[in-house]
Order: sequence, then C-alpha cells, then structure tokens
Amino acid sequence: MKKDYILPSLNDARRRNKEVSKNVSFIMDDSYKGLGEGKHYYIITHGCQANQRDSETMAGLLDQMGYSMCDDEKKADVIIVNTCAVRQGAEEKVLGEIGALKRLKTLNPDLIIALGGCMAQEEESVRTIMEKYRQVDIIFGTHNIYSLPKLLYEVITTRTRKIEVFSGMGEVVESLPVTRFMSHKAWVNIMYGCDKFCSYCIVPYTRGKERSRQKEDIIYEVEELVKQGYKEVCLLGQNVNAYGKDLHIDYTFGDLLSDVAKTGIDRIRFMTSHPWDFDDTMIRSIKENKNIMPYIHLPIQSGNTGILKKMNRRYTREEYLALFDKLKEQLPGYSFTTDIIVGFPNESDEAFEDTLSAYDHCQFDNAFTFIYSKREGTPAAAMEDLIDRSVKEERLQRLNEKVAYYANKKNQRFKDSIVEVLVDGVSKRNSNVYSGYTPENKLVNFTGENIHTGDIVKVKITEVMSFSLNGVKVD
Ligand code: SAH
Ligand code: SF4
Ligand code: F3S
Repeated sequence: MKKDYILPSLNDARRRNKEVSKNVSFIMDDSYKGLGEGKHYYIITHGCQANQRDSETMAGLLDQMGYSMCDDEKKADVIIVNTCAVRQGAEEKVLGEIGALKRLKTLNPDLIIALGGCMAQEEESVRTIMEKYRQVDIIFGTHNIYSLPKLLYEVITTRTRKIEVFSGMGEVVESLPVTRFMSHKAWVNIMYGCDKFCSYCIVPYTRGKERSRQKEDIIYEVEELVKQGYKEVCLLGQNVNAYGKDLHIDYTFGDLLSDVAKTGIDRIRFMTSHPWDFDDTMIRSIKENKNIMPYIHLPIQSGNTGILKKMNRRYTREEYLALFDKLKEQLPGYSFTTDIIVGFPNESDEAFEDTLSAYDHCQFDNAFTFIYSKREGTPAAAMEDLIDRSVKEERLQRLNEKVAYYANKKNQRFKDSIVEVLVDGVSKRNSNVYSGYTPENKLVNFTGENIHTGDIVKVKITEVMSFSLNGVKVD
C-alpha cells in the first residue's frame, strides 16, 4: 500500500525570511461536496483562542462537505482532536483522550479519527502517534487545515492512513469557510505565527512565521460580523503589536484598532500583546475608542531580568514595570492580567522573589500561572536545570496565593456598582443564573428576567469574589 506521508520537521519550522508571505484563496473541490451527507462530526478543542478559531474553520469545511456537527462523540462518524503543544500536560491530556477513543473505533470500525493542531507539527509527537495510536487515521497540521476535506476523501476511498504536515513558514489563506460556535462573540485572526522565539516556547515552531492578514480582509470580516448581529470581536495574534510589520507597510496595530473601532462593533478585545512594540499609537487608539474594552493582557513571564534574558523576552524587569506604570497612568480603570512561568531552568529563590515583588508592584487583576515545561527543540530544553519539582510546585502555590489575593482586592472596586454585561448564556449549574463579562473582562453571574444570550444588560453587583462577581439585573 502506498504510504506517502508528509511529516513535520523542527529544523524546517525554525527557518525565517523577510519576504511577504503568500496570500492564497481557498476553493472547495466539487468532488468533496456531499461526501458527508447524513454523517456527523464531533470536534474536541484544546489550547488557545487560535485553536478555537481553527476549530471553527474545520467545522466550516466539514459543513461544506455535507457533514453535520453533533455533541456526542459516540454518534460521530468523524472525530477531530485539535491539539495544543505548549506544555507537556496539554499533550498528555490529548494522548489520554485519543487512547480512550480507541474503544469507539472498536464499536464503529468506520469511525475516522483526525488529529490536527500544534501537536501535529511536532516530530516526536507524530512519531508516538504513528507507532502507538493506530486508531488515528489522519494527522494534519496548522498550516494546511484546508487539506482536511482532501484527507477525509482519501481515507474514505482508500482506507489508508494519511499524514500531511507542512513545516514551512506558512501562508495566509483567505476565503476558508467558518462555522462560528457563538452567535454574539467572534474570534478574528489578524495575524498568524510568531517570530519572537522566547527560549521556552514551541509556538514559533508549530505556527510558523509572523504573517499578517491584509487590513481590508480583517475590516471586511468585522463589518460582516456587525451585520450578522455580533456584539464582540477578539482580534487574535500571538503578538498583536507586531501586526503589519511583515507586510512592510506604514500601518500598525494601533491603526488597525482605530479602523476596527470604526465598524461600530460594540466591543473589541485583542490577544495577546507583548510588552515589546506596545507603542503610543496603540495607547492613543485604545484611549480614543470607547468600543475598545478597558482590559489589557500583558504577559510578564518573570520579574527577574536575568531570567527574562534567558527567556529571550527582549525586555528587562525595569522596562516591563515602566511600561506597566505608563499604561496604568494613561488608562485609568482598566484591568490588567498577565502570564507567569515559575521554575524556568535554574531559577533561583532570589529570581522567584523578584517575580513576587513585580506582582506586588503591578497588582494584576488576574494571572495565568504555569510551571515551566520542557519543550523538545527549543533552546531552553538544552539549559541545565537543577531545581527540584517540589520547589517549583511550592513556588507556583505561593504565586497563586498572591494572584487570588490581588484578584479579590481588585474586584472590590465593583461592589455595589452597576456594570454592563454582555450575556453569554445561562449557567450550566443553575438555570436561573446567567453569566457574562464586563468591559474589564470580569465574569459576572447574575439573576433577572427577560435575559438573552448576546444582550448587553446592566447588572448591580451585590457580591464580590476573587474570580467572579455576583449581581442582579437592573432596568
Ligand atoms: N503569545 C503569547 C502566549 C502564548 S502561550 C505571549 O507571548 O504572551 C501562553 C502562555 O503559556 C505563555 O504566555 C507562557 O506563560 C506559557 N508558556 C509557553 N510556553 C511554556 C512552557 N514551555 N512552559 C510553561 N509555560 C509556557
Ligand atoms: Fe511563545 Fe514568546 Fe511567541 Fe508568545 S511571544 S507565542 S511566548 S515565542
Ligand atoms: Fe497551544 Fe498551539 Fe495555542 S501550542 S497555546 S494551541 S498556538
């Protein structure tokens, strides 16, 4: 049997050039249409917002082939696992999951299992899956989501396993179909990939070169979302401040923010901004446009300059704190969150204390905290690390106590106030309770009458907790 696998290569994935990436337009081949008629698919999504948005593209492709989405994996003819590779834990979860899917394959031998996302871009993971997880029929990468219909067609017609993963710098693919999973909030990619190469991070290898979409394509997408009744867009990129740089045009993320604001969409968010390149045009644009939400996620990763240098983060402790202070002063009332890694190779007690003191300085509204996880192929994987796992766990716990303390402290400002909440829906645990987010990205659980997903309602806050607020709708 012919086995024409295209496997990932970390060496190829590391390459970068200064050329403007190719913009290509997707068209579905007629022979794939109707292939899924009467059949169902189920998608499991891991990882970040980029993956959430990619899953919506996968759903769009399958819908165009005639498949229907279902919410029970046991009823599915195709199961897609969209994976994350950012930490070891994320990968182990996926392997456990596909291990469990083997049982479904025994019950239904025609079931097709496809694995996509960032794990598919890793040599080692693909090798493991090829050897030990025979139940996986398709492996496709982050650069060729559009190949999914072709690969499904080939598996159905030849009953052989298909692996197609590209490790080049990537293209910008437009006109892919999309089935959005929400009707009031939408993810909008503004750029793909990452060129920052933080020494611990696998993302530049799994997502390719930084490449921006044309501004016209982004603005058109948001305008269409407004027409469809969407209330919020979140502009996505691993490092949104770098928007436009790869296109060599005189148009930056700050300019894009202003233009997206002009579409009149109620709420604009963006993820993730890197402290590097957070320029004054951006600050001005955020300040001037009421529909850009008062919330900034600004990963610090560490509060120690030595560790930041080893992380290749391109800023010192002092530079981060100076930027933070400037933002805080110019953007009063905004909420700020961050990402932190503890236990980076050979992080000393003193270095960790610097992270704690930086946290005390910034008093973040919230933080995503992680223990460093070794990623094969990254520069940090080769660094000596003599710090015990138990020490790292203890540091994480100490940091998390601080996170909870300031989260609670920061939330107190909302006690008894009236906030605007974009309603996400009814709570899974209690059908009388609704939930949604304030402009500052605070989760609010509240009660009231005549409430629908997508409404923006006024809620009086009656109770404040560390990670959420409780309230009652007011008219
Ligand atoms: N592009 C974003 C983050 C993407 S990954 C940014 O630069 O902010 C999300 C977070 O995962 C990172 O901010 C970092 O805190 C964490 N992370 C990335 N690689 C990691 C690793 N090897 N071990 C532990 N945490 C990691
Ligand atoms: Fe990873 Fe750094 Fe790029 Fe963020 S900026 S995705 S942490 S390499
Ligand atoms: Fe994970 Fe890939 Fe996102 S590694 S965090 S899914 S870019």
